[in-house]
Amino acid sequence: MTTPYEDNRWETIPIRIETDPDACAEVVADEIAALIRKNEADGRKTVLGLATGSTPRGVYRALVRRHQEEALSFRNVVTFNLDEYFPITPDDPHSYHRYMWENLFSHLDILPENVHIPRGNIALGEVSSSCLEYEKKIAEAGGLDLQLLGIGRSGHIGFNEPGSPARSRTRLITLDHITRSDAAPEFQGLHRVPTRAITMGIRTILAARRVILLVTGEHKAAIVRTAVEGKVTDEVPATFLQGHDNVTAILDLGAAADLTRLRAPWLLGPLADQGLAWNETEICRAVLWLAEKTGKAILKLTEEDYNAAGLQELLATADGAAYELNLKGFYRLQNAITGWPGGRTDGSRPKPLRGGAASVFPKRILIFSPRPEDDVLSMGGTLARLAAQGHEVHIAYQTSGASSLPVEILERFRLFARDSGATLGEGPEALRHQYSLIRQLDAKAAAKICGIPPERLYFLDLSFDWHVGEVVKRSVTGKDVETIAELLTRVAPHQIYAASDRNDPEGTSRLGLESLRRALQATASLPWASDCDIWLYRGGGSAWPLPAIEMAVPLSPSEVLRKRRAITQHETLRQSATLPGSTPHQLHELSSRHDRATAEAFDRLGLAEYESMETFTHPDFVSNLLVK
Ligand code: PGA
Repeated sequence: MTTPYEDNRWETIPIRIETDPDACAEVVADEIAALIRKNEADGRKTVLGLATGSTPRGVYRALVRRHQEEALSFRNVVTFNLDEYFPITPDDPHSYHRYMWENLFSHLDILPENVHIPRGNIALGEVSSSCLEYEKKIAEAGGLDLQLLGIGRSGHIGFNEPGSPARSRTRLITLDHITRSDAAPEFQGLHRVPTRAITMGIRTILAARRVILLVTGEHKAAIVRTAVEGKVTDEVPATFLQGHDNVTAILDLGAAADLTRLRAPWLLGPLADQGLAWNETEICRAVLWLAEKTGKAILKLTEEDYNAAGLQELLATADGAAYELNLKGFYRLQNAITGWPGGRTDGSRPKPLRGGAASVFPKRILIFSPRPEDDVLSMGGTLARLAAQGHEVHIAYQTSGASSLPVEILERFRLFARDSGATLGEGPEALRHQYSLIRQLDAKAAAKICGIPPERLYFLDLSFDWHVGEVVKRSVTGKDVETIAELLTRVAPHQIYAASDRNDPEGTSRLGLESLRRALQATASLPWASDCDIWLYRGGGSAWPLPAIEMAVPLSPSEVLRKRRAITQHETLRQSATLPGSTPHQLHELSSRHDRATAEAFDRLGLAEYESMETFTHPDFVSNLLVK
């Protein structure tokens, strides 16, 4: 997708949006490969500035494939990495040295002497001279031809955290709290994440002749918007990119979601110019956007409100009748509210339900939880309602969630077992199994509170969990798909709930949904499949934005308390920041904040006032996920 409307006064740098992270990776790899080939033809070396983290993994896979299948050679490539934790040894599983060799260099014909990564295993007293030396080496190589960058939720590029000046060079820096808590799940606890790092400076980065900012995942949507639509400030170091004359941001739909062109495309000009039309979906989106922007109840919006906010085209399309538009927005939310997420006992069919089995009662319902805590975090209230209303509820836990458990918890359980006279297995496999068992206990206790018996819980242990202390390639395997397909066939569900979260390209929620999508494709011809009603809850305990909500299940004050009790069964997670992009407060606080915010928004917009609400949408609302 290219810029849909050239006259975009919100964006300060060129942007290219692709549907998913893989497509983004191909675009970046193509540009790097073309640059290497062109320089080679000119008899020149190519000097690349490289990044680490979860975002560029796909680019590195794509480059390795070009090397293996298209004879792209890296013999004339010199690389400089942006940053490295400090202190850290090169062989530490979390070091960027190890990341770069495992993900890229060891698969290429690059000469080891051409690889440069800031050293994390030097004495503090040597850091400043080592940084100067790094800058000197970049200059001697002729400067960076192309710098690949990610962005952190703190707004950092490299590890230039908020406050980094535009003139900064390679140096030691203290990591921002957001950066450390985002890294905490990988390190199995915030306290294990290093507090410092060595990073190229803003000036070092901006001196590159070409800069690519690659961002994927909806957890980055807010910071992307600030970086490209906000004012230049050292509080958001990525905004300094606005001063570069050859930069492009390459985004997937998740990372681009908050940009004005996607959030409120009507502000850019006539919808038709952007390949869109004023259909029911766009009208409702605009009405809800307007109500939120003005802080007014939907049914109180006036013609003046529409005109003043830039919705003249919509109002004109509706013959100037604001009230007709208001009603459309209002009924969209009103019709989404149901206390009967699985259908009513009398077999009548509440509006949001779809599929041939919508009026079947009771239903067989299968809930997919990517990690053991996702189900209760995001839909603990709905789970309990479904069970209480007589449905047969099954829950499939896709990964063991073992890796997010702090080591101290395992040690305590092992001590308990030893003091009780039990003998426990040793070695990595036995330990991993013990971690998984602890997480299963949490999930079983939480499900019991929601009224789901243990025999309807399935611990699938799919392959894409983090493995403690290992650098793993995270992807869905054929065996994962088979495991899910077999369960689908066994349960033959009338209704499915799954987590959707376009977070990291290799994030557990994304892979959880991808594995289900492939299993649904494999079972599409079975009789239950065509009648099945599929719903998505938003992963990590968060809620859908208003325009996406197609089912809102209200929770009473006592249901809120029960949900909280269910979530606190995952008490072994309390010490670690397990939710991607969360700060480490209590899990139940995070989820109840989202549920309450949704209920408050409904109230503010002039709908009924509930204590709390859980929200769901259909897959076809979330492009490029289940429906491809
Ligand atoms: P991520 O990190 O790719 O792991 O999200 C990007 C960054 O922090 O720059």
